[in-house]
Amino acid sequence: MNIFGSQNRREDSDFIVTPWTVEGEVDYNKLVERFGTSIIDDKLMERFVRAAGEDHHLLRRRIFFSHRDLDKVLDDWENGRGFFLYTGRGPSGPMHIGHIIPFYFTKWLQDRFKANIYIQLTDDEKFLEESRGLTLEDTLKWSYENTLDIIAVGLDPDKTFIFQNTEYIKNMYPIALKVARKINFSWVRAVFGFTHESNIGMIFYPALQIVPALFEKKRCLIPAAIDQDPYWRIQRDIAESLGYYKTAAIHSKFLPPLTGPVGKMSASRPESAIYLNDDEKTVRKKIWVAYSGGQPTVELHRKLGGNPEVDVAFQWLKFFFEPDDNKIKKLEEDYRMGKILSGEMKTLLIEKVTAFLEEHQAKREEAKELLHLYKYDGELAREMWKKIHV
Ligand code: TYM
Repeated sequence: MNIFGSQNRREDSDFIVTPWTVEGEVDYNKLVERFGTSIIDDKLMERFVRAAGEDHHLLRRRIFFSHRDLDKVLDDWENGRGFFLYTGRGPSGPMHIGHIIPFYFTKWLQDRFKANIYIQLTDDEKFLEESRGLTLEDTLKWSYENTLDIIAVGLDPDKTFIFQNTEYIKNMYPIALKVARKINFSWVRAVFGFTHESNIGMIFYPALQIVPALFEKKRCLIPAAIDQDPYWRIQRDIAESLGYYKTAAIHSKFLPPLTGPVGKMSASRPESAIYLNDDEKTVRKKIWVAYSGGQPTVELHRKLGGNPEVDVAFQWLKFFFEPDDNKIKKLEEDYRMGKILSGEMKTLLIEKVTAFLEEHQAKREEAKELLHLYKYDGELAREMWKKIHV
């Protein structure tokens, strides 16, 4: 299947972003223009933080940098109508740190705004993506494994419903049909780059990723990296004609691969990512050989300084692992001046990542006992689930 969205494929294109591929070095300003989203400006950011009653470094540092209708979400919040949250995961293997970041941010949104969250596990999508070579049994198994990681984030079980497409399909199918009838082949071909060789499951699939944005008759806010935005574009074009709100979205940048600023972390290059099930030794090994912004020798580094813009260890600290702005500022300056060596930056990141994984993995163990609360027995889960079984 040709998975390069044709809207994304410009003659001058030096990078490509689709829900399935990130190639080249992403220019986020250009991407916002191509996708037709808006940058979160200072005014909107301040309004958002005021409504939340608290700041978050993912917002402050513009890791979540772009949006659709975030202002309308805040209007709804302020006038008491409220909104709901929707995000998801394609269970194709173990999750890496980039995959879990939107879930931590979604938890923060839930805590601050007391909103319901729907989490879609697209076991169907990952089976249909033939290039992955996964069996349906594989994607079922990864759905279970990934659900544990998602529960480990600590979402409110009474306000969170986690569902897996192959299990919950009966409930989604009537809405999916209404959605599918509004979308023709030319449209999804233009948005997703499908071809005559694409299997028909994949061609129908966008309807299923759109459905949860219609689960409530309220505005939906979708926190995710910007690669998923093409689905929301279609949802927004058809939602009102079906009697629903256009979905809102808040988009993040990509946590860069350990191997350097080009492309995205991928299972075919395990050295490019830290997986949530990596042990301490593996973490140390992978970070130690990560792409660095330092000079070839210590002498040169002390003299010329390093480049934090491309230093992956620094970028990871800034992206997620060091929430203290003063510390980040000092690290950046000291690295630029050659006071901090690349090895020291990496050691700091190794400590942070190891501590994070230790805690995450412990919570993941506890999640095995909590699964039912999110899939079947929590307040929201029960309400959603009984639509099929009662
Ligand atoms: P998936 O499994 O590819 O990705 C899961 C989530 O992780 C985000 N993401 C990243 N975030 C930061 N840095 C990265 N390097 C990085 N790589 C991926 C993705 O944007 C996503 O938020 N089809 C979807 C599953 C899905 C979904 C959704 C995702 C279904 N409904 C609604 C978001 C919102 C998928 O395969 O995601």
